[in-house]
Amino acid sequence: MAAFRIEGYVIVSADGMLANADREMPDTLKFEGDKQFFTAALDRADLIVHGRHSHEGQPNSPKRRRIVLTHGTAALARDPANPNATLWNPQAASFEQACAFAGVPSGTVAIIGGPDVFDMFMDRYDAFFLSQAPHVRLPDGEACFPGVPARSPQQILAAHGLMADKREVLDRAADVTVTPWRRPTR
Ligand SMILES: NC(=O)c1ccc[n+]([C@@H]2O[C@H](COP(=O)([O-])OP(=O)(O)OC[C@H]3O[C@@H](n4cnc5c(N)ncnc54)[C@H](OP(=O)(O)O)[C@@H]3O)[C@@H](O)[C@H]2O)c1
Repeated sequence: MAAFRIEGYVIVSADGMLANADREMPDTLKFEGDKQFFTAALDRADLIVHGRHSHEGQPNSPKRRRIVLTHGTAALARDPANPNATLWNPQAASFEQACAFAGVPSGTVAIIGGPDVFDMFMDRYDAFFLSQAPHVRLPDGEACFPGVPARSPQQILAAHGLMADKREVLDRAADVTVTPWRRPTR
């Protein structure tokens, strides 16, 4: 059995964007129901992985063990600003080495962005939770995955072997939903 269960989490606009043209997540993409879903998932995870600009900034954040991708470290280092964070340069150390350095040899790993970090794990997700805000458009925004909008996020997840499971409503007024994309058991 694999040592890690790897899950991805993102909320995207109707046009597949995770941030606006300034590469910031706008308030129009923030919904209480999605926040609660995301918070519960991060509280359950053993480890969070993200790029330097995708810290989730939540009250429980300091308690969560995390790996932050950056070119600013030679390979692996403790983050001097956060005892629960490991700085990882994936050009110089493997994901497994980073997890060992972080003190997490197994368990559930939540990948939370940005686009290049999502892309690195595309063939490894056990499940990818795609939240969608169908009434929000972010023209010229930052796409959730490389290759969007030429292909939709769903087409990219399917191309990497994931299959859509049952969609759940997260915010009825705004029609925000989350669809788990799961890898069929091999
Ligand atoms: N809607 C959502 O659900 C959602 C999800 C995630 C993020 N977001 C938002 O989207 C935006 C994402 O920002 P971003 O595009 O700048 O992405 P990011 O991945 O958070 O940050 C990019 C930085 O991470 C580091 N990095 C990423 N991949 C790396 C690699 N392969 N090797 C080494 N370092 C790597 C680099 O840091 P260095 O410069 O230190 O080398 C790079 O400059 C943010 O505004 C965030 O809030 C939204």
